[in-house]
Amino acid sequence: MNIQEQFRTVFGGECTAVCFAPGRVNLIGEHTDYNGGYVFPCALDRGITCAARLRGDRRVRLYSDNFADIGIVEASLDDLGGDGRWGDYVKAVLSAFLSYGYSLDRGMELAYSGDLPDGAGLSSSAAMEVLTGAVLRELFGLAVTAQELALIGQFAENRFIGLNCGIMDQFASAMGRADHAILLDTNTLRYTYAPIPGDRAAVVIINSGVKHSLASSAYNDRRRECETALAQLNTVTKTRSLCALTPEAFAEYGAAVTDPVAYRRARHAVTENARTVEAVQALNRGDLDAFGAMMTASHLSLRDDYEVSCPELDALAEAALNIDGVYGARMTGGGFGGCTVNLVRRDRAEAFVEEMKAFYQRTFGRPAPIWIVRIGDGARVIGRGSV
Ligand code: GLA
Repeated sequence: MNIQEQFRTVFGGECTAVCFAPGRVNLIGEHTDYNGGYVFPCALDRGITCAARLRGDRRVRLYSDNFADIGIVEASLDDLGGDGRWGDYVKAVLSAFLSYGYSLDRGMELAYSGDLPDGAGLSSSAAMEVLTGAVLRELFGLAVTAQELALIGQFAENRFIGLNCGIMDQFASAMGRADHAILLDTNTLRYTYAPIPGDRAAVVIINSGVKHSLASSAYNDRRRECETALAQLNTVTKTRSLCALTPEAFAEYGAAVTDPVAYRRARHAVTENARTVEAVQALNRGDLDAFGAMMTASHLSLRDDYEVSCPELDALAEAALNIDGVYGARMTGGGFGGCTVNLVRRDRAEAFVEEMKAFYQRTFGRPAPIWIVRIGDGARVIGRGSV
């Protein structure tokens, strides 16, 4: 059943708008976005679709076919309190729009359907937030830019969901461009698109299937540790963020960070930022080997200094590097489970997938969710009127 039929079945009658927002995979630049550094994500061609219609009253009725067992989630524009279920992401964005001063004077019916694996670190939450923002913009005719959709989505996640995430995921979902990755300076929000040479290289995602239940509290811990490091660095030099320091400056001032854990977190942020810049320069001059080497170095730093990997991700990244034609492999996203991202020679991609499938089955005793990514566009309207 497509999403319009789904809407008809659940709510009766026709929807008036259909929007889509993609998930993302980050190629390099991990845990730099809340440290004022660079990130280099791309939007996937997979994501979440929503069919929508305004109501005459102030009720909000939500349905997701990924959570069909829950049925319809009911709320009101006057009571958008969360209950720990999937609808909180929608209510968070409605609350965020109201906090931003947009007037939402009518309720609505929204039916969602997605093809992103949940909890795989491919930003299904950011896709929900950006998608809901795109739907509100369309239903209410609001003048909101794609970049604002990203910022409102991040605000919703920080303020109402309680995860102190950076801007990367929402930005990638809102601003993605087919066949390109986005080099985003999270300090200024300046960005450029870099083409990924699909004729030479494939981006391959492997889902470890591991979901860490404490991921969000561990994430918030990492942020705090970075803040500790930044405060200590500021006793010996003036720096607005960890990523504003070059590795050379960190070598000079790093000793000010007396807590060894905070020191390693800071070292990751500083070196990861430098790697990201270097990797994108390499990509732009066509040097995929150098780009891949940076990806692999990123994994080691996330494993050893930032401590956000897990044995399954380490095993997948390591196994990939033993296969012919692999430029680089690393965990991607927040960590503690989720996926690895691999850059593989295009003419070796299918063989790589087969070999990793066999490895995965052998190691984890179940079939491997592996796929060759198509890099898609950011959030958009895909149908208007009674579509
Ligand atoms: C999560 C967050 C992002 C970013 C990554 C790590 O995906 O939502 O803001 O911090 O982790 O790079």
